[in-house]
Amino acid sequence: MPKRPDEPTRRRKVWSLSMRVPMPPRHLRLPVWALTSATVVVVLIGAAVGVALLSGAAMTSETTRSSLNERATGLGNGLRHRAHASGLKIGAAAQPTALAGNEGYRTVLSREFDSVTSENQLKWDIIEPSRGLFDWSSADALIGFAEANGQSVRGHTLVWHDALPGWLANGSFSPEELRNLLRDHIHAVVGRYKGRVDAWDVVNEAVADNGGRLRRSPWMDALGPGYIADALRWAHEADPAARLYINDYAVEAANMKSDALYNIAAGLRRDGVPLHGVGFQSHLALGADLTTLGANLRRFADLGLDVAITEMDVRLPLPATAAQHAEQADLYTRVLQACLAVERCVSYTVWGFTDRYSWVPYAYPGWGDACLFDGDYQPKPAYLQLRRMLVDSPRR
Ligand code: G3I
Repeated sequence: MPKRPDEPTRRRKVWSLSMRVPMPPRHLRLPVWALTSATVVVVLIGAAVGVALLSGAAMTSETTRSSLNERATGLGNGLRHRAHASGLKIGAAAQPTALAGNEGYRTVLSREFDSVTSENQLKWDIIEPSRGLFDWSSADALIGFAEANGQSVRGHTLVWHDALPGWLANGSFSPEELRNLLRDHIHAVVGRYKGRVDAWDVVNEAVADNGGRLRRSPWMDALGPGYIADALRWAHEADPAARLYINDYAVEAANMKSDALYNIAAGLRRDGVPLHGVGFQSHLALGADLTTLGANLRRFADLGLDVAITEMDVRLPLPATAAQHAEQADLYTRVLQACLAVERCVSYTVWGFTDRYSWVPYAYPGWGDACLFDGDYQPKPAYLQLRRMLVDSPRR
């Protein structure tokens, strides 16, 4: 507060010990050395008590904070922390629009998952919508988010029959031109994110649904079955450290389709092609037969490959009942159990974590409710059951 002009300048008295404490009569005064050591002892005891109180307070506040957090969210440490002991990465596919515009989405994605997959950001139709015109923005945003939140990245996907930009899907190219386009695309995308994408779904859904042959696609029609090995080699040239996968759906059980995938993987390994893993998408519905999933994962692992659950979700008929949510929880849990039981099952990724942004309602009208969290980011029985499982029975 400023001093008034007429106010005399007064020296501010400095408080000192002698001014306030009356001295005892001499015969009661202790020698200086005793006073000093007594003071030191008092100070040390005081310090010890202070530290205890502070740490207790810190503990209390920490405990309070975490219990508040636990109470507030009811979720405390997310799946990523509970899976840490088992060495398993718990992942989620991240939707570009949600990631860009929704704080609640980002909060749950960073709290629960230590791996993110580009749901669409790295597909050809997003990356190069017009020939030679690249849009890296949503991919850059996803990978930047992952790096800021200590998450690894699964790049999805380099070679697929779907999500092709119109100029490519409808263009007419010679086999040589198409081969050059594919090679340059893989080199450009993998090269741009060299060292920042841990694993790539290099070839997606190469096997035909009847399992008897490779799926028809612009790549298969123009380049023949060798396009798979070529794509893996080109990706490896662009980033030798990245783990390279082939990824497919309806291959979770031992069946004709998974047999075909197995033969492809075995052939690639035999030929020394840089294949490091196989992704099992695991888009399930109630009643899915998981009895052979464990043995199926294991036979791929026995080829010297990593295996991964890459797109897990369980669609329900709407509106779903409590019993259907319970069955959904069992399916999520049994897939996790099968993964934990196979040492080389390195990640368990859900395809979107909230019903708010799930692909299912668009692909299966009348179905949905497929994710671990509802549209308001509230956990569902499947989420809670996974949490319990990750604590009760980490990887054997
Ligand atoms: O972003 C555009 C938007 O601008 C436009 O208005 C709107 C309507 O045309 O389309 C939007 O793009 C859509 C995109 O998802 C982003 O939402 C595409 O049309 C739509 O085809 C695309 O669907 C994706 C689909 O793959 C095809 O790429 C789904 O989100 C995605 O979940 C789905 O994921 C696939 C995996 O890649 C492979 N395994 C199966 C899985 C489910 O189909």
